Amino acid sequence: MNNEINSNDLLSLCRRRGFVWPSFELYGGVAGMFDYGPLGSNMRNNIVEVWRDIYRGREGFIEIDSETVNPREIFKASGHVDEFADLVTYCTKCEAASRADHLVKEFFDNPDVLSPKELDDAFVKFNVKCPECGGKLGPVEEFNLMFKTTIGRGSSRGGYLRPETAQGIFVNYLNLYRYNREKLPLGVIQTGRGYRNEISPRQGMIRMREFNMMEVELFVDPDDKSWSRFHEVENDLITLVPNTGTEAVTMTVGETVKKGIIANKVLAYFVYTTQQFLIRLGIDPKRLRFRQHLRDEMAHYAMDCWDAEVLLSLGWIEVTGIADRGCWDLSRHAEFSGTELTHFKKFDEPEERETDKVKAKHKALGPRFKDKAKSIAEMMEAKHPSDIRDGKLVLKLEDGEVILDSEFFEVVKVREKISGERVVPHVIEPSHGLDRIFYSVLEHAYTHDEKEDYTVLKLAPEIAPIKVGIFPLMEKDGLDTLALDMYKKVHSPSMEAYYDGSGTIGKRYARMDEIGTPWCITVDYESIEGPSKGTVTIRDRDTTAQKRIQADSVQEILRSLLSGGRFDDL
Ligand code: ATP
Ligand code: GLY
Repeated sequence: MNNEINSNDLLSLCRRRGFVWPSFELYGGVAGMFDYGPLGSNMRNNIVEVWRDIYRGREGFIEIDSETVNPREIFKASGHVDEFADLVTYCTKCEAASRADHLVKEFFDNPDVLSPKELDDAFVKFNVKCPECGGKLGPVEEFNLMFKTTIGRGSSRGGYLRPETAQGIFVNYLNLYRYNREKLPLGVIQTGRGYRNEISPRQGMIRMREFNMMEVELFVDPDDKSWSRFHEVENDLITLVPNTGTEAVTMTVGETVKKGIIANKVLAYFVYTTQQFLIRLGIDPKRLRFRQHLRDEMAHYAMDCWDAEVLLSLGWIEVTGIADRGCWDLSRHAEFSGTELTHFKKFDEPEERETDKVKAKHKALGPRFKDKAKSIAEMMEAKHPSDIRDGKLVLKLEDGEVILDSEFFEVVKVREKISGERVVPHVIEPSHGLDRIFYSVLEHAYTHDEKEDYTVLKLAPEIAPIKVGIFPLMEKDGLDTLALDMYKKVHSPSMEAYYDGSGTIGKRYARMDEIGTPWCITVDYESIEGPSKGTVTIRDRDTTAQKRIQADSVQEILRSLLSGGRFDDL
C-alpha cells in the first residue's frame, strides 16, 4: 500500500468523480478558482454540519449570515484598507507576479515577517529568480489583497468584497448583544465566502481567490478569560509549537495555560476544540499541530494567534487560525462609527469609586459654539476619557465633525456610587478555512494500492458525500426492483444513497470505495429465496468485511453505524 500522496492523482480523482472542478475551464480557467461538484458540495456541507454541531449544538452559539459586499468604511475601521497586504515582486522579464515571501521559504523559518528591503536582499543573496521564466525579480512592494468594487451607480460609494466574514459579526455587535439579552459570553458563528486577490495562487485549493470560511467570534469579558467547560478538556493532550522555539511539544491543555504558553483558558479551550473538530473530520492527529505566531507575524488585530497546521504533500499548511483579537475590532468600529460598542458589567453590590470624567469648559464653549454649546457640552460629557486621542475629542454633529482640544474640556476625578461599568468585550476567534480543511481531509483519507491500482478514500462516515451504495446483484429477476425500493426508502439528504446496477459487483464496490462511501448493500438471490430470504449483505469499506442483515432493518442499522456503531457488532 502506498500512502505517499501524489496530489495530482488526488486532484484528478476530484475532477473525474465530481468533487471539484477548476472554474471557467470552458474558457481556459482562472488561477485560484474552483467549483464544487455534486460530491464536493455534499462533503463540504457535511463538514459545515459538524462545525455547526460543535458550535451551535454543543456550545449553544448563534449563527448569522451577513453581506459579502461591504462599504469601504468597514474595512477602513477594521484596518484592512491600510494593513491587509502581501508583498509582491514582478519579474522584470515576463512580468509574472509572485508573492515575495513564498520565493524564499526554503531559506527562512518564517519568511512572512521579512520587510520589503530584507526580501530584496534575500533575492540577491540566495540568487532567487522568477519561478515562471528565471528572469530577474523587480523590487518588492505592498499589494492590498481586497477586491475593490463600487456600490450603486457610478463610483460614489466605494466598497470591497469581504476578506473575512468576521466584520459582518462585529458591525452587528449591538443587535447580537441585545439578542443575547445583554449577556457575555456571546458566541456567534458565520459561514460564507471570503475574497482575497491572492498574488500568485499556485497551490490548488490551498490558495483560492474566492474561498469559504467558517468563522466563530466569541465575545468575552476582558477580565474573565476563563471558560465554564475548561475542566472537561484540561487533561487532554495537544501538540503545540510555541513561538519560543521551533520544536513541537505535546502537553495537556491545562499545562498550556499553567505554563503561560497559551495566554488564557478560553483561547486554550478553543485551540483544543479545533483539534477535536479536525480529528473528527478525519485529519490524522500525527499530522496535526498548533503553531503560535511570532509577534511580528501576527495580523494587525491579534494579541495572540495559533494556527492549526496540517501536514500535506505540500508541507505544513495552515487550515485554521485561532486568535485573541482583544478589543481591536469593537474599539475601532466604535471609534469610526461614533457608537459605543460595550458590555455593561454589573457589580454584585454597588461600589463607591473614584472615576475620571470628561467635564466641559462651558466658559470656553459658549463664545465659540453659541447655541450649539449646550448640546456639545452634553456630548462631551457622555464621552469616556479613553475616547481622548492625542489630547483631542472628536464629536460627530449633524452637520459634520468637530475636533475639540483641552481648551474646551478637562478630565476630573469624581467619587460616585456605581452599579457596574462598561467594558469593551474581547474577541476569541477560531477562523476555519473550509476549502483547505476539505482538501486536507481528502489527502489524509486517500489511500492507493499501487500493485492493485486500487484507491480507497477512508472518509469519516459523517462527512462522506454518499453514505451507502445500493446494488442489485443482477438487474433482473426482481432484484433490481427490490434494490430500487430500498434506495427510495433509505435515501435522504442526511443518508445520501446511490443506486448502481451496472458492471461487475467488484467494479461497483471499487467505484464507491474511490469516493469514500462507507457501506454498500447488495440484494442477491438469497434475498428473495431460500433460508436467508428477506436478508441482504452489507459491506464495510475499510475492512471489506460483509454481513447478512435483515432487509427491513437496513435503515435502522445504517443510522446506528452513522452515529458511531461498530460494524463488528452487527
Ligand atoms: P496564509 O498565510 O496561508 O495566506 P492567512 O494567515 O492569511 O493564510 P487567515 O487570514 O488566518 O489566513 O485566514 C483564516 C483561514 O482562512 C486560514 O486558516 C485558511 O484556512 C483560510 N484561507 C485564508 N486565505 C485563503 C485562501 N486564499 N484560500 C483558501 N483558504 C484561505
Ligand atoms: N477572520 C480571520 C482572518 O480572516 O484572518
